[in-house]
Amino acid sequence: MNPISAAILATAGLLISGSVPAVDMPKEGTARCGKCHAIDSSSMSPSFMEISEKYKGDKDAVKKIAASITSGGSFGWDYGEMPAKGMGASDAEIQSLAKFIAGLAK
Ligand code: HEC
Repeated sequence: MNPISAAILATAGLLISGSVPAVDMPKEGTARCGKCHAIDSSSMSPSFMEISEKYKGDKDAVKKIAASITSGGSFGWDYGEMPAKGMGASDAEIQSLAKFIAGLAK
């Protein structure tokens, strides 16, 4: 392979890996939310990425996401009910998780 095509392949590889969210769930998220949520896949509840897309461009995204986590319930996703505060997350954890989720889809 000549050096130019090797460089093109390497660039393409970077672009592909760049499309996968290079973030891990914060540890309070794994502990409290990970049973039901994942960052980029959904089976029993919307993924954090999908939720982030829902609120993308909303300047009150963090506030609204934090309010949803605090109250729990259903939000029209059709997965059922989310328990209030996940499973006992503190207000500080909820704030930081809301910021984390809001920041995913940018
Ligand atoms: C027992 C399972 C469960 C746990 C634990 C859980 N969730 Fe959920 N969550 C759900 C389900 C189910 C929905 C979707 C409800 C629906 O169908 O509308 C949801 C929806 C959401 C939404 C969407 C709100 C909206 O406005 O659309 C957010 C944000 C969220 N969860 C965050 C969290 C966070 C953060 C935690 C941890 C502190 C957590 N969840 C823990 C089940 C869970």
